[in-house]
Amino acid sequence: MASQPYYAAPYSLCFLSPRAQQDLERDEQIYSSYEKLTSQLPISHGWSPFSLQHYQSFWIPSRLVTACMAIQSHFNPRPSDIILVTSPKSGTTWLKALSFATLHRRSFSLSSHPLLTNTPHQCVPLLERFYSHRTIPNLNVLPSPTIFATHLPFSLLPQSALGCRIVYLCRDPKDAFVSLYHFLDRCIGSSAEHKSTTQGLDLSKVFQMFSRGTSAFAPFWDHVLGYWKESLKSPEMVLFFRYEEMMEDPASHLRRLAEFMGCPFSMEEERDTTRKQAHQQNPFVKSCLKPYTNPKNSIERIILKFHLKENRQPRVVGRVLGAFGLLITDSCGLLRVWSDGCGLPKAWSEFDGVVEDIVKLCSFDNLREVEVNKDNKGNFEERRPPPSSFFRKGKVGDWVNYLSMEMAEKLDAITKEKLHGSGLSFESSSVVP
Ligand code: A3P
Repeated sequence: MASQPYYAAPYSLCFLSPRAQQDLERDEQIYSSYEKLTSQLPISHGWSPFSLQHYQSFWIPSRLVTACMAIQSHFNPRPSDIILVTSPKSGTTWLKALSFATLHRRSFSLSSHPLLTNTPHQCVPLLERFYSHRTIPNLNVLPSPTIFATHLPFSLLPQSALGCRIVYLCRDPKDAFVSLYHFLDRCIGSSAEHKSTTQGLDLSKVFQMFSRGTSAFAPFWDHVLGYWKESLKSPEMVLFFRYEEMMEDPASHLRRLAEFMGCPFSMEEERDTTRKQAHQQNPFVKSCLKPYTNPKNSIERIILKFHLKENRQPRVVGRVLGAFGLLITDSCGLLRVWSDGCGLPKAWSEFDGVVEDIVKLCSFDNLREVEVNKDNKGNFEERRPPPSSFFRKGKVGDWVNYLSMEMAEKLDAITKEKLHGSGLSFESSSVVP
C-alpha cells in the first residue's frame, strides 16, 4: 500500500482485514495494468503543478485516474448504500457532514460526535481517494447502509452504483470555480516543495481552462447535466440539490435528505428546539436528570419518554421510575433491554429539535471551528489537502470579489448555452449579491 489510509471507523476496517499474499499481488497487478492505460491518455498541465488526464470524455486529476478505473471495475456497493456526488467545490464537505450526522443520529451524542474529532472527509470517504491506495478496499466489513462520496460523472459510474440512492449537490459554476481556484492555490501554498518553485495559480489562465471544460471532473456542465437528467428520469434514485437553495433553507433540505436516505425524522425529533430548551430548563426535569447526565442512560430516557411523549404526571412517573431504576441499577441492563424494546430514545437525537441540532452541528461556522478542521497542514505527495482548506468562506455569490464582469458574463453565457432546454438554470444565483 502506497500510503496509510486515514479514514474513521468503520471505513478504516476495509484496509485492516488480513489479506492473503495472493490478494496483495493481484491488487498490485490490477493497479499496474491501470497505470499502463493511463500513460496513453491525453494530459493537460494548464492547472500546473496539478495535471489532468482526459478519460472517457472527462478531465480527471492524473493521480486519481487509476482509482477511477479501479472504482469502475471493483466498487461493489449494496443497493442500500448511499452515494453522495458533487463536482469539486460544490459543497461536498457539507453534504458529507449532513448525511453522516443524519444517518447515524441514533448512535452518537452531540457532545462526543465523530464530526468533532474527524473531518467530514474521514467520516465519509471520497471513492477516488479510497481506491487510490493500490489495494482494493474490502467493503464487506462495512455496515448497511454505508455512505460513500465521489466526484465521478454519471457516465463514469459503474453499473453496480446505479442501484444505490444517489444524492447530487451542485453549485453556481462561478462560485465553484472561485472556490476551486482558492483551494488549489492553498494546496500549493501548503506544500514547501511547490511554494518555492511555483508562483501559485494564475486566475485568468485557469479561468480560461475552466471555461473550456478543462478542470477536475469537468466539463462542469456535462457533470451537472448527467445527474440532473437522471434525477428527472428516476427521482427515487437521484436526489438533486443546489448549494444556494440549501444555504437558504438547510432544515427543509435536511428533511428531504433524511427521507431519501430512508431515515426520515420522527414527529418527536421534529419538535422545535424552543420546546426542548424550555423542557431542559424545567426544574423538575433538571432534578430528575441531575445524576443521569448521559443521554444514553436508560433511566433518563424513560423519565423523558413519559414526561414528553405520554404526557403523564411527570412527578409521579419520574419518581416511580427513578426509584425503580435506582433499585435495580442501570448496569444490570434490565432497563436498557426494556427501554430498547419499547423503542425509547438511544441518544440526543431522539429528543426535540434534532433537525436544527444537525443543521447547527454541520454548519460552516461550527465545523470550521472544530480543531481537526482547523489543521493547516496537508500532504502534497499524497494529494491530501490541509483540512482547513475545505472551509474558506461558505458564501453564495463570493465570485463577485474575484471575477470581472466580463468573466462572469462569459461563464453565465456558457452555462446558459450548455443547459439550454434542460430545465436547469443557475440564473437566480447569478444576481450580484
Ligand atoms: P468557498 O470556497 O466558496 O468558501 P467542497 O466541500 O466540495 O470541497 O466545497 C468547498 C466549499 O464549500 C467551500 O466554499 C467551503 O467553504 C464550503 N463549505 C464547506 N463546509 C461548508 C458548510 N458546512 N456549509 C456551507 N459551506 C461549506
